[in-house]
Amino acid sequence: MRLRRLRKSPRIREVFSDTEIRANKLIMPLFVDENISRPEEIKNMPDVFRLPLGGLVDKVKEYEDIGVKSVLLFGVPNHKDATGSTSYEKNGIVQRAVREIKRETDLAVFTDLCLCEYTDHGHCGILNGRNVDNDSTLETYAKIAKSYAEAGVDGVAPSGMMDGQVGRIRKELDSTGFEETLILAYSAKFSSSMYAPFREAVFSTPSFGDRRTYQMPYSNTREAIREIELDVEEGADVVMVKPALFYLDIIKEARNRFLLPIAAYNVSAEYSLIKSAAEKGIIDLDSVVDESLSSIFRAGADIVISYFTEYILKRTKN
Ligand code: PBG
Ligand code: ZN
Repeated sequence: MRLRRLRKSPRIREVFSDTEIRANKLIMPLFVDENISRPEEIKNMPDVFRLPLGGLVDKVKEYEDIGVKSVLLFGVPNHKDATGSTSYEKNGIVQRAVREIKRETDLAVFTDLCLCEYTDHGHCGILNGRNVDNDSTLETYAKIAKSYAEAGVDGVAPSGMMDGQVGRIRKELDSTGFEETLILAYSAKFSSSMYAPFREAVFSTPSFGDRRTYQMPYSNTREAIREIELDVEEGADVVMVKPALFYLDIIKEARNRFLLPIAAYNVSAEYSLIKSAAEKGIIDLDSVVDESLSSIFRAGADIVISYFTEYILKRTKN
């Protein structure tokens, strides 16, 4: 037997490859910042920008032209307080961005749903002393979900890792006439050092402590499955594993156990590591982007949130 027959030419390799980077299954994250009037490049994420509301629609239309199908929105508000009250304002930065994008494009719009961009302490929930209080946080998440739904979002993506968040949000959406709003649950979200460039991008580094009382320890597989199981029971439409590259085993395990769509978040430092190594000439950007994204799809992800989305689509267009 000669297995090399299947590798003999680029065309034969293409015909028999079993994993594709599915460009229409990539979600582009977008940062919209209430405090700026021109795009600002994120320091440790070269070629990724925070956008002012004014420039958002043009950029998003450009995305639509190159074949982006969906975006995941993050907001940087102009005011933060202890309870993150700007997160559920009717005219909050994300709510306005959703309305504009839905009015001007046909993109699917998802919004990250969390408090860390809106609280002055940078935690993902409401504090009771130094503790992040689970159940009072759920009430705020419900308000945020409703306000995003009213703005016309296709789906909300709760990322705070509070217990019961999916159930509480589903209940809120269903009881306010938004039965059709999806929930993309950040189900198995690990406490990871790979979010550092993101926190710098949206100014959400906690002012004390860390997120380890709510995000998962990276040592635990079975606990990740329990998290996903609960989100499925609570009514999640899509479950997510985050980060992606160091967690391919979790993606695979989720794929084997669950029937609903599985999303993977190819997070900020996964982007920055590859990007900066390529800029130094250590690796070739194109081939490492391909290899890394192929591994996420091969592990079983149906959709991937990646900062490389724009790059990949522009590249395949040429
Ligand atoms: C908010 C949130 C974070 C990310 C997505 N949603 C940061 C965090 O949990 O600290 C990280 C995304 C990335 O690193 O690209 N909770
Ligand atoms: Zn958060």
